[in-house]
Amino acid sequence: MASSDRGQWSSRFGFILAAAGSAIGLGNIWRFPYSAGEGGGGIFVLLYLFFVIAIGIPVQFAELSVGRTTKRNPVGAFKALAPKSLWPIVGGLGVLTGFGILAFYSVIAGWTVGYLYQGISGGLASITTGEQSVDLFTQITTDPLIAIGLTAVFLVLTVLVVRGGVSGGIERIAKVLMPVLFALLVVLAITAMTLPGGMDGVAYLFAPDFSELSLPVVMSALGQALFSLSLGMGAMITYGSYFPDDANLWQSGVLVGICDTVIAILAGLIIFPALFSQGMDPQGGPGLVFVTLPTIFSAMPAGQIVGTAFYFLLAIAALTSTISLLEVVVCYFVDERGWSRTMAAWVLGGVCLVLAVPSALSQGAVPALGANGIFGAWDFLTLNNNIWGNYSLSIGAIMICLFVGWKWGIPKAMEALELGNHPMPATSLWGFLVKFVCPIAVFIVLVFIIVSGQYF
Ligand code: PFF
Repeated sequence: MASSDRGQWSSRFGFILAAAGSAIGLGNIWRFPYSAGEGGGGIFVLLYLFFVIAIGIPVQFAELSVGRTTKRNPVGAFKALAPKSLWPIVGGLGVLTGFGILAFYSVIAGWTVGYLYQGISGGLASITTGEQSVDLFTQITTDPLIAIGLTAVFLVLTVLVVRGGVSGGIERIAKVLMPVLFALLVVLAITAMTLPGGMDGVAYLFAPDFSELSLPVVMSALGQALFSLSLGMGAMITYGSYFPDDANLWQSGVLVGICDTVIAILAGLIIFPALFSQGMDPQGGPGLVFVTLPTIFSAMPAGQIVGTAFYFLLAIAALTSTISLLEVVVCYFVDERGWSRTMAAWVLGGVCLVLAVPSALSQGAVPALGANGIFGAWDFLTLNNNIWGNYSLSIGAIMICLFVGWKWGIPKAMEALELGNHPMPATSLWGFLVKFVCPIAVFIVLVFIIVSGQYF
């Protein structure tokens, strides 16, 4: 499709909100606390922050520069910059990863809708103890019809927005609701930290215990940094492709990174104090956030209203992320295969629902798909979370760095980042990180993981 037909964010602000909408989602509020809990708390958080700065931001710049220059989807972008080469396969891997992530992400996103319903219908109000909270979670996640139904609802919502196109749908939603989510998170963090024993949770989150350091924790923190910033699969190539020519791209990228990280830490400051005050186990797995939060709401005045508002905003945050996941896939079929946007959105959303079914059933409905079932220690959802959300994104990050650093060239990427006369500081440091540090460091982590066999 010609670049003039593709649309653009209506402003730089629109891009920041939409890209922050993609970055901020279940990754921050569901995945970060649960990975931090399993990764020993402080040590995971330290590694995660290090990876955001040393790997995340450089990779983000690399993706955005490719997107802005080519104004294409990930496959088309590689085709444009490296015609008749194998590089477009990297874009193809990104499209596949988008599918892979969406197929488990939409299951968790469906749970937020289930909790939203419980908030509206009063079910949430009756939860006062940890056991009651576990019961509610079990009810939502183990009934096959509910689990699949909620996933379907979420995917339909995603399709409806993606069908509307870039600034029609995505931008309008992100603009209004992201700031409200932030304010609510601050209120919840203050409430959680002032619960009896709450500060022990803060200590768990920030005081690193170096005896917990292990390869799987390093891998998980690296994967989380990429996942949370929506990197390694071309989402930021796609979003960068809609960026206005005169606006400051690199600064917008940094701002998105800061917002995303602040929200993840805020989520940690809600979940861990609440956990510790309830005497719950930080290694609670994928259900951690869902089981923990209702107990905070019950400790608050007007808790049912706050809880309902929270799940509404969490569902919206998840939606602005699922939109970006589906957008990568749809954008490819529209640009490269000539599908109409409407057809691409519905067909691909439908395929994703089919792919999501085993993940939806893996949380209790079908024990063979659960932990200690046919996939060994991992349940099917966790397996996908690791394959697509950690390993595939890491491979994607290596490839985009190699491409920008060695094939396309740092000077051309710099031009795209500074376009509109916005000189970037520390440019040679960025070039060094993209050419050497990022690809080598991520490669070493992957090799160590493979050699040691400690995949998890
Ligand atoms: N960054 C999103 C989150 O943290 O919830 C998830 C995500 C969206 C990952 C888009 C990758 C992506 F391309």
